[in-house]
Parts: sequence; structure tokens; C-alpha cells
Amino acid sequence: MKNLPKVELHLHLEGAAPPAFIRGLAQEKNIDISEIFDENGGYKYRDFNHFLSVYEAACTTLTGPEEFRRLTAAVLEESSEQGVLYGETFLSPDFCGGGDLGAWREYLAAIQEAADASAAAGGTELRGIITPIRHFGPEAAKPAAKCAVETVGDFITGFGIAGAEDAGEPRDFAYVFDMAREAGLHLTAHAGEWRGPDHIRDTLRDLRVARLGHGVLAANDPVLVDELAESGVMLEICPGSNVFLGVYDKLSDHPIDMFVEKGVKVSVSTDDPPFFHTTMTKEYQDLADTFGWDAARFRDMNIDAMNAAFCDAATRDRMIAKLKEN
Ligand code: ADE
Ligand code: ZN
Repeated sequence: MKNLPKVELHLHLEGAAPPAFIRGLAQEKNIDISEIFDENGGYKYRDFNHFLSVYEAACTTLTGPEEFRRLTAAVLEESSEQGVLYGETFLSPDFCGGGDLGAWREYLAAIQEAADASAAAGGTELRGIITPIRHFGPEAAKPAAKCAVETVGDFITGFGIAGAEDAGEPRDFAYVFDMAREAGLHLTAHAGEWRGPDHIRDTLRDLRVARLGHGVLAANDPVLVDELAESGVMLEICPGSNVFLGVYDKLSDHPIDMFVEKGVKVSVSTDDPPFFHTTMTKEYQDLADTFGWDAARFRDMNIDAMNAAFCDAATRDRMIAKLKEN
């Protein structure tokens, strides 16, 4: 499984930070965040909302562009090791200079330096999706969107939204999604991880996204499942995250296989891998063990993922050619 080529469209950069990396930075900077670690050195949290606050506490150690360069290099090293050919990561200006455009440009340059190094070494090729944090509110999303609009290009290709799904309604963020769309950014939004079909419909109507982060609770409405299949909206599914956070009790309860059967486009990602004790290889192995997915199924899924990827046509074609080699 490790050597199987993979495409990962849903990864939070800070959420991919190994706990030892964050602990090391905390020590370097004399920041006391010992309460976010368990006795084995892993991240410790009670539930999804607590996970979000532990995540934000971990981010306080990422104090400048150099920390983000090191983080991106570490994350891409792991992605390359896991066989990820192409990846997209969520980047939040809120954690990179607090939405200040000048600061954001410096953070972005550092992140891109690590991304360029990975690509040049034949490792994972990365693109960035700028992602305001929903529970920071619609006003805080505006400077983040401005950062996105000002830095759209070969690397920053997408715009999304993450954070607590129950904070406000999709229409509260229509303004920033309109800004991003006007600037030519591709759009995705977390929805249907915690809130059901109505929230997914509102997201599709008000934010006009091409992909949904998670989207799994669409499974509760067969009409919506058919609509997703018809429209080709891709679900960025993170099965291990959903099971670890308790959206489903076990992988065999997860609707991913049903979505495939019904013709909904899906891709597989890790979300925040060390928080959920997962890797891309583990995700693939678990799907093979639970649903009998074989190499051909993974290849077809990854071709679908590349067709929904937020990249230029030449990169898409090059990646699809590599996937077809296998
Ligand atoms: N931020 C990091 N991981 C997230 C998730 N699974 N859902 C929403 N926001 C997130
Ligand atoms: Zn996510």
C-alpha cells in the first residue's frame, strides 16, 4: 500500500504537524502547552470542539515564516514517504501573520520554498488552499480572503473554509467566496462533517463550491446523494478522521463505499493525520480491508481526484499519466 501512488486533496498544514515537532518548538520558545499532550507524547483532546482549541494552542508555537518552512518540509517529507504524488493543503492566514497581507507574503514565500524543494527532489507536489476559520467569524474571513486574492497564482489555487461547522451559516461567508471566485480561485468548503443535508445544500447554493470537505452526512438523504452524483461535486473524504472523531463508530459504518456505488466522486485524505493517528497508507489499507478496494479502485479514485484538483492542466495531465503507469 505504501508504494501505491496517492493523491491527497484535504490536509490541514498545521493539523499535520507531528506532536514532537510542536513540542520541540514549544521548548525552543518557552511556551507552556504541556496540557495538549498525553503521557505518550501524542495530542490529547476530548471532542471536536476541544480538538479545535488544542489545534489552535499548537499553532501558537508556529511564530514565524521559518517555523512554517520547517513545518511544510516535515509534512512533505512524510507525504512523499506515503507515496503521495500530488497534494493540496489548507493554509490559514489567521495563523500566518493574523491576516496581515505583508506578513502573509513572507509566510507564503517560506511555505513555497519548502514546496518547491519537495517537487525538485521528486517528492510530493503541493498546492495551497487559503482557508479562513469559520468560528473566527465572517469579518475575520475578509482579510484572509484579501490575502488569497492578492497571492493567487501557480501555488495558491484554492479557497475554502474550515473550523466549527455550526458557527454561522454559509451565506455569512458568501461575500468572501465571491471575492475568491472573482479572483479565479477554485472553491471548496467543509460541510456535512457535523451538519446534515440542509447545511450541504445551503453550502452548495450560497458558496457555489466544486468540492466539499467531508460531505459525508449527505448520505442521510438519498436525493442529495443523487444530486451530488449528477453534479460531479467531489467529496474530500477523510475516513479515519470521521471514525476517530466519532462521526461513525467504525469504518464499516462509513458511507464512502455507498457513495462510490452511487456514482458520487470521492477522494481519500487524512485531514490532520497525527491528531487521528493515521497516515495515507493506513487509510488505504483500512479501505482495502473493510470494503475490498483494490489497486484499480484506488487508481480510478485518484484519477477522479486529479480531475477535481485545483491545479493547471499540465500538472493534471502529468499526474494522471503517472497514475496510469501503475
Ligand atoms: N480544522 C482542522 N481539521 C478540521 C476538521 N476536520 N473539520 C473542520 N475544521 C478543521
Ligand atoms: Zn478538514
